Amino acid sequence: MTDVTMQENDLTIPEDTNTFSLVRQENGIAHLVMDVKGDSMNTLKAEFGEEIAATLKEIREDKTIKGLVLLSGKADSFVAGADVHMLANCTSAEEATALSRQGQMIFDQLENLSIPVVAAVHGACLGGGLELAMACHGRVCSDSGKTALGLPEVQLGLLPGGGGTQRLPKLVGIQKSLDMMLTGKQLRAKQALKAGLVNVVVPHSILIETAEKLALSGKVKPKARKLSLTDKLLEGNRLGRSVLFSQATKMVLGKTKGNYPAPLKIIDCIRTGAEQAPSKGYQVEAEHFGQLVMSDVSAQLRQIFFATTDMKKEQGVEGIQPAKIESVAVLGGGLMGGGIAFVTATKAKLPVRIKDISHQGISHALKYGYDLLNKKVKRRFMRHSEMQNQLANITGTTEFTGFSNVDIAVEAVFEDLTLKQNMVADIESHCKESTIFASNTSSLPIGQIAEKAQRPENVIGLHYFSPVDKMPLAEIIAHDKTSDQTISTTVAFAKKQGKTPIVVKDKAGFYVNRILAPYMNEAGMLLLEGCSIEALDKAMVKFGFPVGPMQLLDEVGIDVGSKIGPILQAELGERFAPPAAFSKLIADGRLGKKAKKGFYQYNTKSKKKLVDEGVYSSLGLQTSNKAVSEAQVERCVYMMLNEAARCLDEGIIRNARDGDIGAIFGIGFPPFLGGPFNYIDKIGAVTLVSKLNQWQAEFGERFAPCDALVKIAQEGESYYSS
Ligand SMILES: NC(=O)c1ccc[n+]([C@@H]2O[C@H](COP(=O)([O-])OP(=O)(O)OC[C@H]3O[C@@H](n4cnc5c(N)ncnc54)[C@H](O)[C@@H]3O)[C@@H](O)[C@H]2O)c1
Repeated sequence: MTDVTMQENDLTIPEDTNTFSLVRQENGIAHLVMDVKGDSMNTLKAEFGEEIAATLKEIREDKTIKGLVLLSGKADSFVAGADVHMLANCTSAEEATALSRQGQMIFDQLENLSIPVVAAVHGACLGGGLELAMACHGRVCSDSGKTALGLPEVQLGLLPGGGGTQRLPKLVGIQKSLDMMLTGKQLRAKQALKAGLVNVVVPHSILIETAEKLALSGKVKPKARKLSLTDKLLEGNRLGRSVLFSQATKMVLGKTKGNYPAPLKIIDCIRTGAEQAPSKGYQVEAEHFGQLVMSDVSAQLRQIFFATTDMKKEQGVEGIQPAKIESVAVLGGGLMGGGIAFVTATKAKLPVRIKDISHQGISHALKYGYDLLNKKVKRRFMRHSEMQNQLANITGTTEFTGFSNVDIAVEAVFEDLTLKQNMVADIESHCKESTIFASNTSSLPIGQIAEKAQRPENVIGLHYFSPVDKMPLAEIIAHDKTSDQTISTTVAFAKKQGKTPIVVKDKAGFYVNRILAPYMNEAGMLLLEGCSIEALDKAMVKFGFPVGPMQLLDEVGIDVGSKIGPILQAELGERFAPPAAFSKLIADGRLGKKAKKGFYQYNTKSKKKLVDEGVYSSLGLQTSNKAVSEAQVERCVYMMLNEAARCLDEGIIRNARDGDIGAIFGIGFPPFLGGPFNYIDKIGAVTLVSKLNQWQAEFGERFAPCDALVKIAQEGESYYSS
C-alpha cells in the first residue's frame, strides 16, 4: 500500500532535480542556468561533477550554439561559494586535494570551450562562485548593491582551490590578488570593474542582454589593466615580485603571529603561478588546499562558521514568534548609545529616537553615525544621498516626544542602578504597555533593574560590546520574570542589527565579562610580579588575542574595569578580587585612553604604541622589561577557561557552542582555537585540571579547578564529541 502511494507521488510530482539547465535562445546563445533546487542560494557541490561534465559535452557537440551565458536561477545571488559541508567528508589531505583537482578540471573544461563564454553576475559571487565566473572568458555584473565578488576562503582557514589563486592574478594583478585573497574582502561592482575583474557593469534589467551581446561580439576578453610604472616594476620582473611576496609574508606573519597557515600558502600558490609553468601553479594550489582542509585551524574556523549560521536561524525561545519592531528608542547618546543608534538605523533599517539629558549627548550620537558613514562616502563605498537617507532615521530629543509608539527602548545611560530603575519608570509612563525595556548594563543584575517595574516581563538585558558597529556579539539577559515573548523579540531585534545574540542567565558579569575578568586580573598580577607591560601585551597577541590585556584596559577604561571588579568579587567570590594596587592608577588619574593617560602614551605623535613608564611608579613598581613565559600566558588563559567551564555548569550559557562563540565574538578569543570549550578539549581536561591544581598550591585558591572540570577530567569526557 505504501509503495503504491509512493509511486503515485512520484508520478504526480515530477521533480526537476537538475542543477544545470541549458536553454537555447533564438540568437544562437545558450543560457547555462545554475539553480540548486531546494536551496535559497547556489553553492557548488562535488556531486555536480558528472552533471556539469555532461552539460559541457552537450555544448561542445552542439554546433548551433554560438556563445554561452552562465547565469543563476536565483533571484538575488549568483553562486555564494562551494558547499563547505562537503569538506567534512574528507578523511585525508589526498582526498581533499582530489576534490580541488576535480573542481580545477571542470573549470578548465569551461575555459577551454571554443565558443565565447560570459558570466552574468548579480548578487553574491563568492569563493567557488567567483572561481567559476573567472573560468568564463568574460564577466558582466549588475550595478546592484547586492552584487559582491570575492574569495573569502582564507576566513575559513582555506584557499581558493578551484583555480582561483591562478586566475585572479592574471585578471587583477598580483598586488590586488594578495589583498583580496589574504583578507577575503569583497568587491562591489564598480570596484570589480576598476580592478579588471569584470568587463562591464550594467543595471540588473539589462544584465543578460548585455552578456548575450558580449558573447555574440566575440570580444569577451576584458580590457588589459592599465599598469602604473610601479606596478610594472613590481609585478613585471622576478626581482620586483620577490619584493612583493616577501613584503606580503612579513605583513601576514605580523598579523597572524604564525597562527594561521592559509595566508602563507596563498602567497606560495600565487608565487608558483607567477614564477613557474601554469600547471605547477594549479598543482600546488590543489596540494595546499588538501593540507589546509585537514588542518586543525580550518576545522575550528569552519565549526565557527557553522555555529553562527545555525545561530542565525534560531529563535530566542523555541516556538515563540518575535513581535514586530517598527520604532526604536535609545536612552543615552554616549559611546554605546551612539553605536546602538547607528546599527539600528543602518543595519536594522529602523527609525531610532535618541533621548539624552544633554544636547551634547544627542549631538555626540548623531556625529558618531555621521563620522562612520562619511568615511564610506569619502572612500566612495556609499553615495552621499544614501548616507543622508540612513542618517534621517536617527533623531534626537531631550524630552520624551515621539516615544508613544516605540516598540523597544534600549537603555545606555550611566552605570547606576537608581538611574536605570528611573529609566524603566520613564519608559513605562511614556510608551506603550508592550514596549520592551532593554538595558545595556555591563554589570548590574537585570532583576534589580526590573525590581520596581510595573511590567517586569518587558525588562531584559541587551548587552553590546564596544565599538558597537564592529563587535558582532550581543548578550541577551532574561531575569526571572522576563517573558518568553520579550526574549524572542529582543533576539530577533539584535539579529536585525547584525548581531549574533547569545541568551545568558542574569548573574553578575553575565558570561563575557565574567570570563574576561579573571584573565585580566591574572595579567594584572603578572604585572605586579614584575612582567613588563609590552611583554604582557605582546605575549597575549602572539597567543592569538586581537589586543593585549593592558591595551584593552586602556581602551575600556581602567575606571570601568575597577567598577565591575568589586561587583563580581562581591557576587561571585574572592577569585575575582582585582589586584589591589590597581586602585592607585585611578587615584593617579590613569583612566586609560579617554583620559589620555593609562598604560600607554596618548600625547605623542609616535605611530608606535609606547608604554607610559610613569605607570610603574604609579603602581609602586620598578620599570620593567621582563619577558612573559609560556606558563605565565597559560595562567591568564586557563583562568578564563576555568571560569567558562563554571559558567556552563551554572547554566549562565545554554551550551558550549554559545560559550565559544560568545568568547570569540565578544572578547576576540583566538578563533583558530575554536573558543574556550574547544580549547579545553584540545588541551584535555586532565592536563588543565592538573595545571590548575599545581598553580592553586603555588599561587592561591583562585586557581582551584571548578567541579565541572574535575568531573570531566575524572570521567575522561570532552565538551564536543570529536
Ligand atoms: N563603554 C563600554 O565599553 C560599554 C560596553 C558595554 C556596556 N556598557 C554600558 O553601557 C552604558 C553606557 O555606557 P557608555 O560608555 O556609553 O557611557 P557614556 O558616559 O559614554 O554615555 C552615557 C550617556 O547617557 C546620558 N545620560 C545620563 N543620564 C541620562 C538620562 N537620565 N537620560 C538620558 N540620557 C542620560 C549621558 O548624557 C551620556 O551621554 C553603561 O551602563 C555601561 O556600563 C558600556
